[in-house]
Amino acid sequence: MSPQLASPVDAAEMRALLYQLGTSVQLPDGAAAPACRPEQLGSAAFRQAHGLKYAYVAGAMANGIGSAEIVIAMGQAGMLGFFGAGGLGLERVEAAIQQVQAALGDKPYGFNLLHAPNEPDHEAATVELYLKYGVKLVEAAAYLDLTLPLVRYRTAGIHRGPDGQVVAPNRVIAKISRVEIASKFFSPPPAKYLQELVQRGDLTPEQAEMAATVPVAQDLTAEADSGGHTDNRPALTLLPTMLALRDRLQAQFAYAGGLRVGAAGGIATPASVAAAFAMGADFVVTGSINQACHESGSSDDVRKMLASAQQADTAMAPAGDMFEMGVKVQVLKRGTLFAMRAQKLYELYRAYDSLEALPAADREKIERDLFKAPLETIWEQTEAYFAKRDPRQNERAARDAKHKLALVFRWYLGQSSRWANAGEPGRQADYQVWCGPAMGAFNEWSRGTFLDGPAQRSVVPVALNLLVGAAALTRLHILKIQGFRPDPLLAAPFVMTLPELEACLA
Ligand SMILES: Cc1cc2nc3c(=O)[nH]c(=O)nc-3n(C[C@H](O)[C@H](O)[C@H](O)COP(=O)(O)O)c2cc1C
Repeated sequence: MSPQLASPVDAAEMRALLYQLGTSVQLPDGAAAPACRPEQLGSAAFRQAHGLKYAYVAGAMANGIGSAEIVIAMGQAGMLGFFGAGGLGLERVEAAIQQVQAALGDKPYGFNLLHAPNEPDHEAATVELYLKYGVKLVEAAAYLDLTLPLVRYRTAGIHRGPDGQVVAPNRVIAKISRVEIASKFFSPPPAKYLQELVQRGDLTPEQAEMAATVPVAQDLTAEADSGGHTDNRPALTLLPTMLALRDRLQAQFAYAGGLRVGAAGGIATPASVAAAFAMGADFVVTGSINQACHESGSSDDVRKMLASAQQADTAMAPAGDMFEMGVKVQVLKRGTLFAMRAQKLYELYRAYDSLEALPAADREKIERDLFKAPLETIWEQTEAYFAKRDPRQNERAARDAKHKLALVFRWYLGQSSRWANAGEPGRQADYQVWCGPAMGAFNEWSRGTFLDGPAQRSVVPVALNLLVGAAALTRLHILKIQGFRPDPLLAAPFVMTLPELEACLA
């Protein structure tokens, strides 16, 4: 049934109409917009493949910031959350798998798998853990190239279904900023890895043949300018390029199930969700805005800092995991000196080859302000850490003084994340908080509503507000292209509580 309006509509009446999402709108001047519900946004195939109601994903956030609580809340609401396994020991990841599996059963969930060029054994051990527990979906990120453990995960258990179709039970959603790496994920696994897996006895020759017909990842997230690791690409340019790649490689390989591309980076408002879907995104992925929610594994201190962030309050800073390679991550700048201090460490690392070569004044300053201890003491702690986690780092440091310098500096980069997550008193100036411009956009949009400030931010109402708002904006756009001129008051943010959302979506 379409409401037929007899008289011109004011902003409040228009808003009420737009948010009756299951009913088409018919305006007095003849303009009309169809029903549009959030569960219609994005790719139906994506929703079906992953058992989702909504094509909405909460991306992984390292050190358990992307917590089991987020994954569980998302899964229970018909959305997908990825646990942030990066930076955690395997025991913590194992405990999270048990917690999520017990809470969600068959409902959707996934875990993060990170490329770890510095710690290849850890990546391989993570894959074995996921295989052991039957984790069927990973978000693969930070890959500079494909790796053997990743291909092992994707191809394990591959078989033919009753209809003869190849079934790869383990699925990968790859998060990528660069076309050349995206092409590798959208292609079948390289023959050299399949041969190696056959030699190791992980695959039979028949399985290797089947594996050569499936993409490494059927789903790929185009990661634009985002919190954490990012190439700072604008979403407006990256997404169309990745969509074109999807279509080109699908035409080349003619995969049975097709390929899909989602959008991440800057997704924080109903308008950005609507825009991503209008541009053709099969799904959307958020990150920064979820860290600001109470379910995240971060601290209340950080949530408060995030709630006051504005659009330009982020900066690029050296990444702890790929420090020596000069890789950077996007972090919060407001309220912390981390970006500046970490950059200073990187400059010292570039200029000097050992702890002993550091100029006395610089050494004294960083010992006083950053490490709050002599560098020898920091090295002892670092050595003890790597003796457990990756002894080869210590062996290399014994031979290579510059590597030892890097490990000591990486202590600061690692601890600064830990201090932020723990809300360590007295260390606020060193908090490392990964965050993109999405946070400022969200704060601006939610200003003056109940989502203004950290107290009420919760991942499911945040996600549903973005989706419901995106559906309403999509309808508004359809009316506008027919000549409808909206009252400017209609642009004021409209945020609903969870019960209101549930009523709207019923
Ligand atoms: C605090 C934080 C930690 C993150 N850690 C990871 C990670 O460990 N692995 C990963 O794949 N992505 C990570 N990301 C990226 C997010 O999953 C997501 O792709 C990204 O934040 C989306 O962009 P946005 O920040 O603009 O929303 C992180 C993002 C944030 C904000």
